[in-house]
Order: sequence, then structure tokens, then C-alpha cells
Amino acid sequence: MCGVVGYTGTKQAASWLLDGLQTLEYRGYDSAGIQVVSPSGNLHGVKCAGRVAVLRERAAAANPVGTCGIGHTRWATHGAPTDRNAHPHLDGTGRIAVVHNGIIENFQELRRELMAAGHTFVSDTDTEVIPHLIQEAWDGPAHGDLAAAVRNACDRLEGSWAVACVCSDVPGTLVCTRNGSPLVVASTDDGAYCASDVMPLAGVTSHVLQLDDFDVATLSPDGTVSITDRDGRKVEHPSAIDIDWDASAAKLGGYSDFMAKEISEQPEALERLLKDRLGKHGIELDELSLTREELAAVDKIVIIACGTSYHVGLIAKAAIERWARIPVAVEYASEFNYNEEYLVTDHTMCVVITQSGETADTLTAARRMRGMGCNVFAITNVLGSTAARESDGTLYIQAGPEIAVASTKAYTAQMVASYLLALRLALANGSMERAEVEKHFHELETLPDIMREVLARRWQDKQAARLFRGKQSSLFLGRNVNATTAYEGALKLKEISYLHAEAYPAGEMKHGPIALIEGGFPVVAVVPADHVHDKTVSNIQECLARGAVVIGVATDGDERVAKMCSEVLWVPPVADELLFPTVAVIHLQLLARYVARDRGYDVDKPRNLAKSVTVE
Ligand code: G6P
Repeated sequence: MCGVVGYTGTKQAASWLLDGLQTLEYRGYDSAGIQVVSPSGNLHGVKCAGRVAVLRERAAAANPVGTCGIGHTRWATHGAPTDRNAHPHLDGTGRIAVVHNGIIENFQELRRELMAAGHTFVSDTDTEVIPHLIQEAWDGPAHGDLAAAVRNACDRLEGSWAVACVCSDVPGTLVCTRNGSPLVVASTDDGAYCASDVMPLAGVTSHVLQLDDFDVATLSPDGTVSITDRDGRKVEHPSAIDIDWDASAAKLGGYSDFMAKEISEQPEALERLLKDRLGKHGIELDELSLTREELAAVDKIVIIACGTSYHVGLIAKAAIERWARIPVAVEYASEFNYNEEYLVTDHTMCVVITQSGETADTLTAARRMRGMGCNVFAITNVLGSTAARESDGTLYIQAGPEIAVASTKAYTAQMVASYLLALRLALANGSMERAEVEKHFHELETLPDIMREVLARRWQDKQAARLFRGKQSSLFLGRNVNATTAYEGALKLKEISYLHAEAYPAGEMKHGPIALIEGGFPVVAVVPADHVHDKTVSNIQECLARGAVVIGVATDGDERVAKMCSEVLWVPPVADELLFPTVAVIHLQLLARYVARDRGYDVDKPRNLAKSVTVE
């Protein structure tokens, strides 16, 4: 959600800014823009609604010249996604340009105040107050110190922001700052960079610096980065991260889209995650900051997440309750944050699951849990993300960059990370013997090969996708942990094919959704060979009796299901029914992708969605 890039150095800025914005496309956006400052102080901006590809064409025609500049991909919050509302935004004198990620909550008040002082605004955005506030400071108390002007301006803001600013009076200087929205900076031989995350920097450096809230960084063309804190004091040792993702990991590498690539990468992602996890102490999970005794004392777990990660939480609950015998509550972060009566025990542990590590609601919830005295453990994919930095312990799922907005490989890797946590807790509190824990671990190790087999059966998904042609709606059903597989399958379909999909626990269907079913209505039923198989089969019969076309997701050799279903997405047997969701979901990811492609949609960048939702 919104991407910020900035560069000052020896090369032409526009070209890198456009490339940088392209690597941030995955965050989700609806307009884009750049502003370049020439060495003589000419500001040249190009911006438009639509894709970076459109911006590229316009920039090629306009040819903005300069070795310093900022760029932005905007996901509209205040004001429609139009050329006029696209960033960068300028101050009243046209000297100061700003890009911003986040939300300025008090912008109306500030805007009124600035208008009363003679400022005029040309956009509907909250952001536009920032360059005007900088202008006030620049011509006033900051006396030509751009960092001080930016700091003064941001002191007036309420909300969240990552801001980058250039000014025609100081052509090579770029100033950036943040509060609540991510921003990293880097110093290299050919100049200095800033970006919302490490992705655009993967090709230029392996070492990036992270700004803390209210830090202000001044970037100079010789590559110098100077960071000061809220009070203007120099930050001597900013926290640094080394990027271990090579730039090629974020390239298509022969795949037609990132979603296809990421679906295919799941077996290797799990192998990386499971490597060296079985050691002399059982499950090696040094990332936990709790001692064995403290783990043994945990008597309640609260899992906080959003979207696909919330579905991981539901599977994690099943695993932790079954293996470690600890009661688990799974909460949507956005709901938890406004539940003032939430109850925790003295030994409640909080687990936050967030692929990006930047989801605003999840971060707020995690801070609240810490405030309630809980140890917070983060499961995330992004190195150095805010969730990782603010938690007591962090398990990185090592899935590699996930570019497609709809999460796939992070989903299954987070799920397996949760299984590891469940086994570690089970060992610590004695609810499972070591030999049994090891047996379960070895079962986890069988998952990558089963995934490979499912991936080899993608033709089944392609065939089943045809049953969605001309349909307006669909129903996904499953029981027990596979109710969650149904939720996730329906979410994937909605996200990328824009086809309505309702997901329900199969047994609950009779209490409402069954009314949707009529002749030809598509139903996806997740019906593995598990302890609720017969019950789910009965639910399929109920759908068939009303004319539904049923697609089954079933275990190899299930003749009964084969006879009932129009198509079956076959899954090889898994050692434990708790693990079926990890492999079965691949069929539903592929199904959603085939349906979306059949309908002619861009599967990587679905409309209205953002990869990293940094506003509440
Ligand atoms: C957005 C994305 C989803 C993701 C959710 C939570 O809605 O589009 O794919 O599941 O955010 O993101 P997180 O990074 O916290 O897992």
C-alpha cells in the first residue's frame, strides 16, 4: 500500500525511480508519480492515475532530467485515484515536492489553518498539507535547513507517515522521515537511496539502514546518509539489515506471473524453513525469547492476524490445542483493537502472524498485547519489518519475496511455522513426548514432496476452472481444519477473479447458504479422508440434491467422492489429517488463478487490494 522511493547521486534519477516503483508495484496502488530536481534547481514532475507502465511512457515523453528525485505509488485513501491526486505534491511556491505513505489524521484542521494563512490546495489528499507545512518552516524557523523544515512540519502531523522530500533551493539534497510507516535508506558508491522496503534496493546494495519513528535522514549525492532523531541529535548507530534476497528472487524467471511462480516455490520454501529445526533439544526454535520454564507456564495463546494470515491462525489454533493442549483464541487485529474488554491471563502469550510485518492493525494489536504484559512472538516473512522489530521474538518463514498481492507461499510457510511452534510448546509443557514430537516433525518433512505432486496435477485445476464460466457466485465448504481451507480457497477466488465466493463450515451450510444453491451452482467441497469425511459427504449430497455442480478436493483413491463430483482435485494421502490444509490449499490457489486468467484478469495486481495494508 503506497510505495515511496528516493535517490540522489551521480546517475539520472528518473530511470531508477521508475524501476524502484516497479518493484514496489506488488504493494498495490492505483496511481504513480515522480519528481526530479536538476542540478540547477529545476523541479520536473510526471504523475498519473494507473500503472507504472503508463508513468514510464509519460516520463519517456517528458524526459525529466536530474540526479535527485522522489517517486511514489499511491493507493487512494483521501481523494479518488486521479492524475491530480497522485503524488508527488508541491508546496504553494512550487519549490518543495513531497511523497507520502500513511494517513494524516488531522489534515483537515491543518488544511483549514494553512488556508487561513493564504495557502491554496490543488488536490483532495491528506498529503498535500505536508509540503505546505514544510514551506512554512523552510521560509521561517528552519532557515534553509531542509531536515529541520521537514522535522518541524512533521511535528504538526497526527497519524502515520513515511515522507520523502526534495527542494529546488537545495538541488542534490533529499530528506526523508517516518512515523508508523516503513522506510529504509542506503548509502552506496553511486549515491544514496530511500524506499518503503528493501525490494527496490536489492539490486543496488546488500546493506540498508532502518529509520526509527521520527528519525530524519538527509541523503547527499556523494552517498552520505546522515540521520538525526526527533530532537535533532545525530543517530550514531542506526539499526541495519543485510538483504539476503538476491534481486533475481523478485523477477519472473520464466513464469507468466508472480502468482504462478510463488505457488510453485512452496515446496522449497518449506524445506528452507524446516532445515535444521530438529536438534538436540527437540524442536529448535531459538527465536522464542521465552525459556523452557516460561513456555511451560503459558496457559493461553492469543493469535492476532489479518486476511490470509488470519486463516493461518485458525490452523495454528488447531495444532496448538491438539499438540500442546493450550487454549488458543484467534483474533482479527481490526476487531481485537476495539474490544476494550479483552481478557488475558498472567501467562498469556501473543502470536502475531503477518507476512509483510507491516499491517497497521496487526502492529497496533501487538503493541496493545505487549502493553497488557504479554510476550509477543511474530511469524513474518520480511526481514527487519516493524512486527519483527517490535516483538520479543521473531520466526522468519524464509519464503523469499512474495510479489503477487494474493498470498500463497507465505500462507503455507506460516502454517508450517505454526506447526513448529505447536510442537515446541508441546515439548516444553510436557504434553507430548520427545519421540512423538520427532514423529510429527518427520511428517512435516514429507510435505514438500506431497506439494510437488499436487503441483504436477495442476491440469485438474485448469479443468475445474471451466465450471466457473458464466457464474456469479460459488460456495466453498469444509469441516474442521478444512473449513479453513475452504475460507482460504474462497478468499483467493474473490481476490483475483472478482467472483463472489462464500465459505462455510460444511455442517453450517444448512443454516443459510444452502438457499443460494440452484441448478449449475458451483460448490467446492474439501473432503479429505479424515474423521469427518462421512459428514462432509452428506453435505455434498445435500448440494447435489439441489442441482449444484460439485468440485471435490479429496484424498487419492476416494471412489465415493469421485462418483459424486463433476471434477476432483486429488491430493496424495498425508500422515496426519492436521496437515491436509497445507497441501490441499495449493489446488485452491491454482483453481483461483485459472478462473481469474480465464476471466482475463491480472492475477498479480487485483483491483483495490494492497499487499501491505499500512492504514487501519
Ligand atoms: C492484505 C493482503 C493479504 C494479506 C493481508 C494481511 O490484505 O492483500 O494478502 O493476507 O493483507 O497481510 P500480512 O502482511 O499482515 O500477512
